[in-house]
Amino acid sequence: MNQTRKVKTVVTPQPAIEGAGVHLKRSIATRTLSELDPFLLFDHFGSDNPEDYLAGFPMHPHRGIETVTYMLAGTVRHRDTLGNSGTIGPGDIQWMTAGRGILHEEMPQRSPRLDGFQLWVNLPARLKMTAPRYQDISAAKIPVWKGENGVAVRVIAGEVGAIRGPVTDIAAAPTYLDVTIPPNGDFRRPVPRGHAAFAYLFEGTGMFGVTEGSDGTAASAPKLLVLEDGDDIVIRGGKSGVRFLLVSGQPLNEPIARYGPFVMNTREEIEQTLRELREGTFIR
Ligand code: FE2
Repeated sequence: MNQTRKVKTVVTPQPAIEGAGVHLKRSIATRTLSELDPFLLFDHFGSDNPEDYLAGFPMHPHRGIETVTYMLAGTVRHRDTLGNSGTIGPGDIQWMTAGRGILHEEMPQRSPRLDGFQLWVNLPARLKMTAPRYQDISAAKIPVWKGENGVAVRVIAGEVGAIRGPVTDIAAAPTYLDVTIPPNGDFRRPVPRGHAAFAYLFEGTGMFGVTEGSDGTAASAPKLLVLEDGDDIVIRGGKSGVRFLLVSGQPLNEPIARYGPFVMNTREEIEQTLRELREGTFIR
């Protein structure tokens, strides 16, 4: 029997300060939601005051995870110790697999408005020490699926209808969609049973987890909605429409040892990482 997912928890993003003083809203890695296996962190940074973000995220390490940066407005300049550099601009996505380790900086540039998201996706034990890898996809390369009812979906990872997102070969088999639903429009899409799923509502209002006989959960931006298990999800746009990210991924069900930007399976692996950083052998 097909089961339509309902909303399990509604998380109100919490103000946080990260990096060298970037003001942001955090929904995963908070007191209410420490993680949503395989997702470890979800931040929404956005401001029209450059003082809120110009300090940026100077050189810092990552190991054992993937960091996913998706921009709506403004640009972030990035650079790492492996020789990669570039900018992530409006509509661009960077899916970075840190694997065994990178040191990088992520610096938002002055602009009338900065708006974007960073998601951390855990890596399974067998891939925590894999070679670092980037998938940098510019806005023009992200396909848009259009429904007859005015729904528009930027497909970053996963599939909608016959459209496949450009981010591929990720362990969590993720879906990452940027969905816009016009007023009172409906959007239904399958989400694999057993996969963790959330919607991050950042514009407008909508009804999430609409089922036969229930209007679902009403929510207004900004909110993160954790979905119950099931086979698909239905979302309905509110009076002025709604825009949200719909993200899902396969849980790892592995132990998590977490220390700042490092996420491993054991305490020993964290200590090893810190030792390598001290001894200058972290980057290979
Ligand atoms: Fe980073």
